[in-house]
Amino acid sequence: MDTFRIEGPVRLSGNIRVNGSKNASLPIMAATILGAGKSVLKSVPHLSDISVCGELLKGLGCEVGRNSDGDLFIDSTTIDNPVGEYDIVCRMRASICVLGPLLARCGRAEVSMPGGCAIGDRPVDIHLRGLRELGAKIDLKNGYIVAEAPDGLKGKEIFLGGSFGSTVLGTANILMAAVLAKGQTVIESAACEPEITSLAKCLNKMGAKITGIDSPRLVIDGVKELKPVEFEVMADRIEAGTFMIAAAITAGELKLENCRVGDMMAVIDKLRNIGVTVEADGDNCVVARKGAIKAADITTQPYPGFPTDLQAQFMTLLSLAEGNSVIIEKIFPDRFMHVAELSRMAANLRKEGAIVVVAGVKKLIAAPVMASDLRASAALVLAALAAEGTTMVSRVYHIDRGYEKIEKRLNPVGAKISRIKV
Ligand code: EPU
Repeated sequence: MDTFRIEGPVRLSGNIRVNGSKNASLPIMAATILGAGKSVLKSVPHLSDISVCGELLKGLGCEVGRNSDGDLFIDSTTIDNPVGEYDIVCRMRASICVLGPLLARCGRAEVSMPGGCAIGDRPVDIHLRGLRELGAKIDLKNGYIVAEAPDGLKGKEIFLGGSFGSTVLGTANILMAAVLAKGQTVIESAACEPEITSLAKCLNKMGAKITGIDSPRLVIDGVKELKPVEFEVMADRIEAGTFMIAAAITAGELKLENCRVGDMMAVIDKLRNIGVTVEADGDNCVVARKGAIKAADITTQPYPGFPTDLQAQFMTLLSLAEGNSVIIEKIFPDRFMHVAELSRMAANLRKEGAIVVVAGVKKLIAAPVMASDLRASAALVLAALAAEGTTMVSRVYHIDRGYEKIEKRLNPVGAKISRIKV
């Protein structure tokens, strides 16, 4: 298990190119199941979650690898084992998004029921409800979701919302099931996250007929078959947001290339409100801070609201603000594992249910801390960049799930992070 040794405080300055998006790549990798043959996906990041998804697809019968340009290829000509094994699903919950495409292609799928994780219970009831509405018979056997639709799925009007808003992977799953269903499916209260838009565009390139893309009402006219695809994965807006916060927390200046500024307005708006300069120029963006950080209130929401995947990182930034901030987590009310660890670094945080009051402090102080989940660990790295002294962040495999060699990205712009094998 690797540990990061991080010296602080540092001031970051320079250019970073944002990588392809993990959360866009995963459902698109699952979508290749729908078009028998060899698909080629460009800009898929080198992350452990991507490798796990590759293993999952190999287990189904696909051939998966990288070509000489680094593109990911998936040959789904043969799918002879439509089973998402427990050993893989327990390593990555997003494995659930093979359920819809497997059912659509094979008429049957067995996928281990994902359990909870560090950020909450994370049920999949809406995924299953949506598939049942499309005509699937679904049972739970020995911890596996067993879904069957031997005569194919049938299009229907489906409402996918819940008290929290919409579900991202739930929308992806039903969308991928519906593209091969007979007749028309309408998904009401579909997630509008850019990663869903990207998936829908990829499916249309494969021959699907989806309209209403970018809206909460997706209309899908089922087709008989899809073909393999060559597709470029969008840039990672959460990685970009994390680097923006890195510039802000270190009072530095970073130019981010390949940045989807238009998808990040909720984050950019907050940064500007607290005294950070964000200047966008096409796909590039310069983020800098000179003055003090001002306090702000944040409520996480489905897109286009403030993303839950940047809540932990923003809390770190606000812990150094002048005054009190309030953070309300509306998507995953238990997503606060970073609170106790940031407190060990002298952040002044008070948690009440899904709300954290952040009383700004003058400085953070290095401490040994433990990564608990992907975004919480990014928050600890950010804290360490600004903290006085040497911070040791253990269990960095969490960060490797979603940030490609973060130390190699941040060290050239002024960070002092070493990876220690322990
Ligand atoms: N929910 C249900 N029932 C369901 C599905 C979801 O109650 O059947 C609830 C969840 O418990 C949660 C809310 O709906 O309260 C939203 O969850 P959602 O289904 O949208 O989350 P997800 O699709 O499982 C994706 C990302 C997460 C990101 C969330 C929210 C991927 C692979 N994962 O998860 O990313 O936080 O959307 O934007 O795309 C991360 O990258 O660190 C990460 C956790």
